[in-house]
Amino acid sequence: MRDLRISVTDRCNFRCTYCMPREVFGPNYAFLPRADILSFEEIARIASICCTLGVEKVRLTGGEPLLRRDLPRLIEMLGRVAGISDIALTTNGSLLAKSATDLRLAGLHRLTVSVDALNEEIFTAMNGTDLPLRLVLDGIDAALSAGFSPIKINAVIKRGVNEDQIGALAKRFAGSAFILRFIEYMDVGNTNGWQLDDLTPAREIAERMAEFTPLEPMPANYSGEVAKRYRRGDGGEAGIVSSVSQPFCRQCTRARLSADGRLFTCLFAGDGHDLRGPLRAGASDADLRALIERIWTRRDDRYSELRFDAPKQARKAEMSLLGG
Ligand code: GTP
Ligand code: 5AD
Ligand code: SF4
Repeated sequence: MRDLRISVTDRCNFRCTYCMPREVFGPNYAFLPRADILSFEEIARIASICCTLGVEKVRLTGGEPLLRRDLPRLIEMLGRVAGISDIALTTNGSLLAKSATDLRLAGLHRLTVSVDALNEEIFTAMNGTDLPLRLVLDGIDAALSAGFSPIKINAVIKRGVNEDQIGALAKRFAGSAFILRFIEYMDVGNTNGWQLDDLTPAREIAERMAEFTPLEPMPANYSGEVAKRYRRGDGGEAGIVSSVSQPFCRQCTRARLSADGRLFTCLFAGDGHDLRGPLRAGASDADLRALIERIWTRRDDRYSELRFDAPKQARKAEMSLLGG
């Protein structure tokens, strides 16, 4: 266990078709009640115990993590946990303009912003809201001014929807320190109606990018890195996350903590292991450590490797609960 991805809320102000389609996540959707959500103190305690089991990197996710009130306070707390050397956050960017400086001052190291399209219509169609793209671009500018660099830009590529945006993004961010990340559309959760036909495989994403810039493969930053990295012609970096066409389960060291305190050992798991129950019942650090260690050492997840052979898993947890 090296990476702990912490979802701080299951709510989001976007309704991306590939993650929280509006037809399912409508006005009557039952989000987690407040009392079920871990407090910052509870999150920091679990993170600190996970550090004694190998965790060094923490990534805050959601839902949309910036919807969680006072998030910089959690970042400060995580910054004081011995063993954490990297604190990152993945956001849709819409609330970043007003929070970038506070996040930086609180000690956030790295930032990833999702931008699936630079074309307003495609942007809106993919994120299911009528919020203007400008909001996200202003957020990115504010983050740059606050000192975040390099910022990662995530774009989920869906066949027939935003493939032309690969080139648009490559052009827009040429000559800059941004790291572009193109992500294969994945069958996470039960609600996005994923079909293999919707997939633009990594190989094709690379080909499309190569129409705009030469790409040279780069070595991984660490074993089990999610993205395959390339050096762009302008010296910048690009990455492709190929979980469907070229799974990378074998080196997976990512644990996921849901907002309600369940530990998920795979992005495609049906359910997590409840940590909140024992935590609130007064378990000691040693008890919790033993529990987490037991969960992790028994793990045999490799969903992406089995995707096309295994019988369909009955029910998977939603991305908005797990944080990706
Ligand atoms: P770094 O910490 O910079 O390496 O970033 P990251 O790749 O962990 O960041 P991010 O949250 O932006 O994830 C990029 C994409 O990879 C998202 O679509 C994630 O859902 C996906 N992803 C992350 N971890 C896994 C994993 O273990 N399995 C699969 N299948 N996808 C993953
Ligand atoms: N397939 C691939 N990536 C996804 N994300 C959300 N849902 C999916 C999906 N079905 C991405 C978000 C964000 C990251 C955490 O995961 O766009 O960039
Ligand atoms: Fe890890 Fe599961 Fe993703 Fe495989 S599918 S890389 S085991 S999270």
